[in-house]
Amino acid sequence: MAGTLMSVEGVTMEFGGLRALSDVNIDIKEGEIFGLIGPNGAGKTTLFNCITGVYAPTRGKVGFSGGAITGKRPDQIVELGVCRTFQQIRLFPNMTAMENVFIGVDARHHTSIFGAMFRSPRHHREEKEGEEKALELLEYCGIRKFANDLAKNLSYGDQRRLEIARALGTKPRLLLLDEPAAGMNPAEKNGLRDLVRKIRDSGVTVLLIEHDMKVVMGLSDRVAVLDHGERIAFGKPEEVQKDPKVVEAYLGAGAGGNAGQKTAPGGNGSTEATGA
Ligand SMILES: Nc1ncnc2c1ncn2[C@@H]1O[C@H](COP(=O)(O)OP(=O)(O)O)[C@@H](O)[C@H]1O
Ligand SMILES: [Mg+2]
Repeated sequence: MAGTLMSVEGVTMEFGGLRALSDVNIDIKEGEIFGLIGPNGAGKTTLFNCITGVYAPTRGKVGFSGGAITGKRPDQIVELGVCRTFQQIRLFPNMTAMENVFIGVDARHHTSIFGAMFRSPRHHREEKEGEEKALELLEYCGIRKFANDLAKNLSYGDQRRLEIARALGTKPRLLLLDEPAAGMNPAEKNGLRDLVRKIRDSGVTVLLIEHDMKVVMGLSDRVAVLDHGERIAFGKPEEVQKDPKVVEAYLGAGAGGNAGQKTAPGGNGSTEATGA
């Protein structure tokens, strides 16, 4: 049995009077694909923000690889091996695909500013290595042919792949994907599933927020369901799918006022939610 790579323990996040996360517990095992689902506004992205150091949780603790990461800065958490993509794509639109990935790779190359200014041989070599690594990552993610195209000219699906390539450039042990299939057509979604599996098979643990039930249930080893900031279900996809609380949260007759996403977990949901 694989050990725990990340533990989210009693994480609560309050924004003024709003409690976005309420005492959430999740453990992620090394080597698994873990799905995080829930209606719009459930707190999924907020949990990513608490894990990656964007927010310090109001209460609770996040552990990674045996140490506490709560309270660390985002760049320190990346350095420890946790990297993410964003629900709203964050690329440099006027840079090429290669340059967008190079930046992530480069963050780990600590050439001094002087080396860069004087074009030292060491700097030159590192730059070359960084470029090669970026091209490898583009190849790995199936978008090498767009290496010299501006990010903004890639299709939406390919931009999502580019974000993944860039995140992989930081050599994560845990990769967090925030709705990677959003905006993709069915063929792109199939390709994405293959890519996520390939990433996991290469030894990277994956935490996946995804609204497309077919994608998330097909990919995940285990799933947690958030609703109004609370973890209402947790377990294998087939168990979670049948859980009355989960069906209720998704179909809930509008009682909870959850805007948007209403596809039942058992369904062939291709619903996209744009969310916060
Ligand atoms: N920075 C913030 N300030 C205030 N409220 C926020 C902030 N971030 C998220 N929220 C609120 O927290 C709740 C959960 O949001 P979010 O985590 O984005 O949900 P999800 O990703 O599951 O759709 C929502 O009610 C949202 O409006
Ligand atoms: Mg979200």
